[in-house]
Amino acid sequence: DWTMRAFREEAIEKIRVQVGKGRVICGLSGGVDSAVAAVLIHEAIGDQLTCVFVDHGLLRLNEAETVVDLFRHHYNIPLVHVDASKLFLGELKGVSDPEQKRKTIGRLFIDVFDAEAKKIGGAEFLAQGTLYPDVIESVSFTGGPSVTIKSHHNVGGLPARMNMKLVEPLRELFKDEVRVLGRELGLPEIFVGRHPFPGPGLAIRCPGDITKEKLDILRNADAVYIDQIRKAGLYDKIWQAFAVLLPVKTVGVMGDGRTYEYVVGLRAVTSTDGMTADFYPFDMSFLGATATRIINEVKGVNRVVYDVTSKPPGTIEWE
Ligand code: XMP
Repeated sequence: DWTMRAFREEAIEKIRVQVGKGRVICGLSGGVDSAVAAVLIHEAIGDQLTCVFVDHGLLRLNEAETVVDLFRHHYNIPLVHVDASKLFLGELKGVSDPEQKRKTIGRLFIDVFDAEAKKIGGAEFLAQGTLYPDVIESVSFTGGPSVTIKSHHNVGGLPARMNMKLVEPLRELFKDEVRVLGRELGLPEIFVGRHPFPGPGLAIRCPGDITKEKLDILRNADAVYIDQIRKAGLYDKIWQAFAVLLPVKTVGVMGDGRTYEYVVGLRAVTSTDGMTADFYPFDMSFLGATATRIINEVKGVNRVVYDVTSKPPGTIEWE
């Protein structure tokens, strides 16, 4: 892509000018944006960059391994992998209010990141994969009363507390452009084409209180659902698809026995920027086959429902 090649050259030059001989820390989330930002910055300044991946225990199946492998082995980018899942899940114990979850995760994330940054001797610059829509959504332009729908945990917070200058090479880009840039930088397709994943992770896909048991059920159900979508050739037609574990058990029947297990909600939407979205109109046969597979393959689930709400009035995530 011609335009992206030019963008890449220009962005690299800008990063070099801004950073000079300084040190940069980049937080990886497992998502496309931070990965693309990190690879671009590494290309510009090499080992002046250190990446920190805070694993909060709220990631999808095999996600941490994939990220660590990609950065350490494919790109040779210095990466600190912090397994902070015990800390996060401990502090989240009994927390069921969505905003409280987000705030707890945001605060811990900053604490852990801050501690890691100190361990590696600090840095003058903090790199973030902030996109254009993030810039807009965090600003209130009406002058009227602004309403916080959700406290996003990826913007703000960190830089102010850490007294670091920001490096945000993707600030002018939309999601689809970041993907083109990622391909330009040689990131594997399976990574570049990945659906967006929120900073607070599975915490906001597990309404009510969060336990390791529930997270494991959710991870497994989600993996089966995504596998179904990929096999049907639908993955790239959908902006975002994921499973939600409802805090509700219902009665079912299996063989000649009664079951009493959790309900899984399935969500899939089309969108161009995440600001508005339509639910994806799967065939009933696809939904039926997916429900059967989830119930057969995931212990702890005996009912599956599909979410047919668009945004607005719904949001894409359930919390
Ligand atoms: P909602 O649920 O608000 O989500 O319709 C819109 C898009 O934003 C993602 N999302 C987040 N991403 N930190 C993130 O990095 C967050 O706190 C967060 N909350 C929602 C969501 O997955 C969807 O793509």
